[in-house]
Amino acid sequence: MHMRKKKWARPELDACPWFVPDPSALCGRWAERFADPSLPFEIELGCGKGVSTAQMAAANPGVRYVALDVSPDVLGEARRNIVRAFGEKPVENILLTRADAAGVGSYFAPEDGVRRIHLSFSNPWPRPRHRKRRLTHPRQLMQYRGFLPVGGEIWFKTDDDPLFDDTLVYMDLCGFETEYLTRDLHASGFQPNYVSEHERMYTGRGVPIKFGIFRRNAEEMDFDPTRWKMPEE
Ligand SMILES: C[S@@+](CC[C@H](N)C(=O)[O-])C[C@H]1O[C@@H](n2cnc3c(N)ncnc32)[C@H](O)[C@@H]1O
Repeated sequence: MHMRKKKWARPELDACPWFVPDPSALCGRWAERFADPSLPFEIELGCGKGVSTAQMAAANPGVRYVALDVSPDVLGEARRNIVRAFGEKPVENILLTRADAAGVGSYFAPEDGVRRIHLSFSNPWPRPRHRKRRLTHPRQLMQYRGFLPVGGEIWFKTDDDPLFDDTLVYMDLCGFETEYLTRDLHASGFQPNYVSEHERMYTGRGVPIKFGIFRRNAEEMDFDPTRWKMPEE
């Protein structure tokens, strides 16, 4: 997604008390930054403009969230969307942070107790040599395993069939068990679902949304995802 540069985005983020410029500085210590550190903790990677993030955080004051994206321009929009969704309520249960999710293993640690990772409409990276950049690629999943507890979940939704199909292979390979799966989220009646910007766009075009919940199993895994390739790659 290419967005025009937003001059206001960085200054607004820098002035925002719930923006974290460097997530690795809080690795293992995220709880310190929340008003109520005892609440369950969930993260979103590639939150974009935070359309669904804002709704989710406002609707669930009993959950702590960190929403991450690599682009300060979209994070600026996410900040505004969160302010709008919270209205008069103080924003206490969500932090925004800017970073490349490829380094996620150095932003979160087991002590943080992340119980769920949200991935919505992650870039599909269709070309074989770019697939390792996918946020569901084994390179990522093995990092998620490093900080997710046994039973921790990944909630993944996408419009993209090849990405979804490959993700089912990746999950199986990396010890994530399928807890729930639908190829038409909106027809499935699954709740709760907070509609994201891209979800609204693809749904408007008549594309069914693929969605799955994957749960980390208890296996000890000794697997180097940097050497692994899909059979046809
Ligand atoms: C297609 S958009 C989806 C945005 C939003 N989740 C939605 O559903 O509307 C993908 C988002 O992921 C972000 N992104 C892509 N690669 C990333 C990475 N390696 N680390 C962090 N964010 C990334 C992009 O900046 C973009 O905002």
